Amino acid sequence: MSDERVISLRNPWFTVSVGGVIAIAVISGLIGFIWLPSQHADFSNEGLWTTICRAAGAPSTWYGNDATAAAGSTGDKPSDVVVLPPLAHVTASADSIGRGATIATQNCSMCHGVHGIVQVTAPVLAGQYADVIYKELRDYQSGMRPSAIMQPIIANRSDQDLHDLANYYASLSRTGPAESSGNAAGGSDSGSASASDDAAGRSAVRLAMQGDPIRNIAPCAACHGQLDRKGAAPWLGGQSSVYLVGQLTAFAKGDRHNDINEQMRNAARHLSQEEIDALARYYAAQQ
Ligand code: HEC
Ligand code: HEC
Repeated sequence: MSDERVISLRNPWFTVSVGGVIAIAVISGLIGFIWLPSQHADFSNEGLWTTICRAAGAPSTWYGNDATAAAGSTGDKPSDVVVLPPLAHVTASADSIGRGATIATQNCSMCHGVHGIVQVTAPVLAGQYADVIYKELRDYQSGMRPSAIMQPIIANRSDQDLHDLANYYASLSRTGPAESSGNAAGGSDSGSASASDDAAGRSAVRLAMQGDPIRNIAPCAACHGQLDRKGAAPWLGGQSSVYLVGQLTAFAKGDRHNDINEQMRNAARHLSQEEIDALARYYAAQQ
């Protein structure tokens, strides 16, 4: 048998064996690159070409899928950013509010009151957003927001208790201003307000409503509910200025660091002491 006759389409051994190898290669390619990956949701949800490239192990940048490339660069590590949707449109059940009221009367009202301020260091909770109360209670439980007073009080409460308490306080109507506007922002016509207080008051109103773009401070009202609201941002009106100064200082120093993406720390660390005092007076005089 000469070579020419072996490698010839007319030789049935040759055609059958070469054809067989090609057929096996094509079938295993189809199984390995298309059929098996297509059974796997992670592989198949971005189209046939992506499926093939992924099965072949090609780097995600090669097949030009930006979203996949971006996700790929951080690996499969789950995001640790918590997105907290405001719970305002979820109507709380009367049962939940009732349970919350019972717990609150026995455990919370001596400091937080039902209406108005009992202790200047304890924030007013009546009319606060439910998502805020729930988040803060969770943060006290986990220690994310340190407080020697609140942590032991809330440590053993169930998740349902926290929701009930949040629903109860959110169902109450907001209290009036905590402090008179005598020497605060709105008191421009008050004889007792000195000229420097007036200037500080005006700067507080400007910071609250317009922010200070040069120092990268967004308007407080853009997050805190007067103009617009970001999830987890508390309503500030009616808190005592003592509490507000305490919290702003804690954010500025980083002692309080439970704000998602440092939203508050970024604003607070650029404020001067006078601005913190003036903003606290401004919000204490709001409703
Ligand atoms: C002994 C007084 C006291 C009692 C009792 C108490 N709290 Fe507090 N609470 C405080 C103080 C003080 C703060 C501020 C702590 C800080 O600086 O973080 C606070 C903060 C909070 C906050 C944060 C609010 C915000 O706007 O950030 C929530 C929510 C809260 N308390 C809910 C409760 C609930 C619910 C109970 C009852 C189960 C309760 N507290 C019982 C004193 C008290
Ligand atoms: C980008 C949005 C954003 C801006 C701008 C912002 N805040 Fe906040 N602020 C938040 C969020 C969110 C929280 C709640 C943080 C947490 O506990 O999760 C918060 C919390 C606070 C608290 C604590 C209140 C409490 O009851 O615990 C005070 C006080 C406060 N902000 C004042 C201000 C002032 C004054 C300004 C303007 C100079 C301002 N914030 C600007 C988002 C913002």
